Amino acid sequence: MADAQEFLKDFPLLKMKMNGKQIAYLDNGATTQKPEQIIQAICGYYGGCNANPHRGAYALSVKATEIYENARVRTAKFINAARPEEIIFTKNATEALNLVAYSYGLSNVKAGDEIVITITEHHSNLVPWQFVAKTTGATLKYIYLEKDGNLSEEDIETKITEKTKIVAVTQVSNVLGLKNDVKKIVKKAHSVGAVAVVDGSQSVAHMKVDVRDIDCDFFAFSGHKMLSPMGIGVLYGKYDILDAMPPFLRGGDMIEYVEEQDTTYAELPAKFEAGTQNVGGAAGLTAAIDYLETITFDRIEAIEKDLVDYALPQLRELPYIELYGCDTTRDNKTGIIAFNVKDVHPHDVASILDSYGVAIRAGHHCAQPLHRYLGQNASCRASFYLYNTREDIDRWIDALKKVRGVLGYGA
Ligand code: ALA
Repeated sequence: MADAQEFLKDFPLLKMKMNGKQIAYLDNGATTQKPEQIIQAICGYYGGCNANPHRGAYALSVKATEIYENARVRTAKFINAARPEEIIFTKNATEALNLVAYSYGLSNVKAGDEIVITITEHHSNLVPWQFVAKTTGATLKYIYLEKDGNLSEEDIETKITEKTKIVAVTQVSNVLGLKNDVKKIVKKAHSVGAVAVVDGSQSVAHMKVDVRDIDCDFFAFSGHKMLSPMGIGVLYGKYDILDAMPPFLRGGDMIEYVEEQDTTYAELPAKFEAGTQNVGGAAGLTAAIDYLETITFDRIEAIEKDLVDYALPQLRELPYIELYGCDTTRDNKTGIIAFNVKDVHPHDVASILDSYGVAIRAGHHCAQPLHRYLGQNASCRASFYLYNTREDIDRWIDALKKVRGVLGYGA
């Protein structure tokens, strides 16, 4: 597609060669590459404005504070939060989800209550809820899947009950690549008085997210999966809920007054941002939002859809390829394709593809319960982004066709 070629020029790493080969980078579900504009924003911050924010009464620190707080305003607008104080910067989505689990979960869930998640959750939206359930004596329940890989409608209806206190669900599965109707699940959670947590790690860089339209109580995502540097993440929370929650981490910058024995905490958002914050990451996040909004999500979705539509029929022609999450009966497939090559361990598949310059992820993708549910130990995953081209798909599939031969199996 012409669009992807146009964006490719912005990504220095994708112009490089690794082991003499151009890289077909198909591991965007793990992290995206960074365009020049974002690299410049980070370098610009460290080269020209670096100081500790919120602390110094001197121009550089004031500038760092402005950059950091501007990122909050920009992020709030990006996901349509009602106010900037609803944006808490974290290290990544995992930390954001742990914040909700430790702070909201441990204070509001009691023995006998229930927490409902889905079998498709990444460990970051699963292990923290296991912890809350075990610590409080609550029960952790799972929504399983229909035959086509989508969440079971029956489970959504029957497992979310008056006993449910928290419903936590991913907007897009990082393995199956299927988009969930989170708005509907949030509505169901609210109908029984539960709060709804949405993991947006695999969605926010790929589609327009409007947290007020979804009406979720919390929404978490990582910057590094949306062109920004590693080390900056976001927790959105509705103001009144965040305001009533105890702090997660304690220390500098999150206090009002500290006495020898007691502390009063700062207002939102500072209450949840203890310690020196990641201003360089925030500068990168702002630049990433600018970049994505200039391109528009309509174009990004069209690029990813074209790649999926181009790849799937070719993969289906290969009798030794097993696909997961590719038979959805809804129009909700995103640019993630999980698969296995018959008789070949996913790590061997990934190593052989790597020898052809094709980067994919292999393993359980931090979703062991989902793999067990699918009857697999592991899988391979190709995940696309706005700079991927049909040539990348050609190289991936050409290399895939060689995998079984390299290992001495027949076709
Ligand atoms: N969460 C990232 C992935 O799914 C690392 O690959």
